[in-house]
Amino acid sequence: VTKPHPIASDDLPPGTVRRAGAWAVGNRDGELFAVSRRCRHQLADLSAGTIDADGCLVCPWHQSTYDVTTGAMVKGPSGFLAFHRHVEAYARFVRSYSRVLRLRVRPVSRRGDQVVVDDADHDA
Ligand code: FES
Repeated sequence: VTKPHPIASDDLPPGTVRRAGAWAVGNRDGELFAVSRRCRHQLADLSAGTIDADGCLVCPWHQSTYDVTTGAMVKGPSGFLAFHRHVEAYARFVRSYSRVLRLRVRPVSRRGDQVVVDDADHDA
């Protein structure tokens, strides 16, 4: 059983991402999210990532981009998937690949002045 690894709300202002145990917890304009912390490409730590203008989480290593509401990879690592972007068969491959590459997603709550990942003891 893992601990909930609370984060002080003050340490999670809009636009930031922090580590909470096995989770990358972020604040996109006041809306909190938690996704599993290891990038599906080469396991970079997504809690060291950034949030882009669309509110997606960007991997610090090769800039894979994830939709934090579904965990889906919406843009592949630079130099890996982008090259074949216009080939339809390859696009189908990327879409099915993206399902495998999905991050786990957890709800996040504010408790007092802390932020906690709900159900943190399941497969964290
Ligand atoms: S490890 Fe995340 S994009 Fe490569």
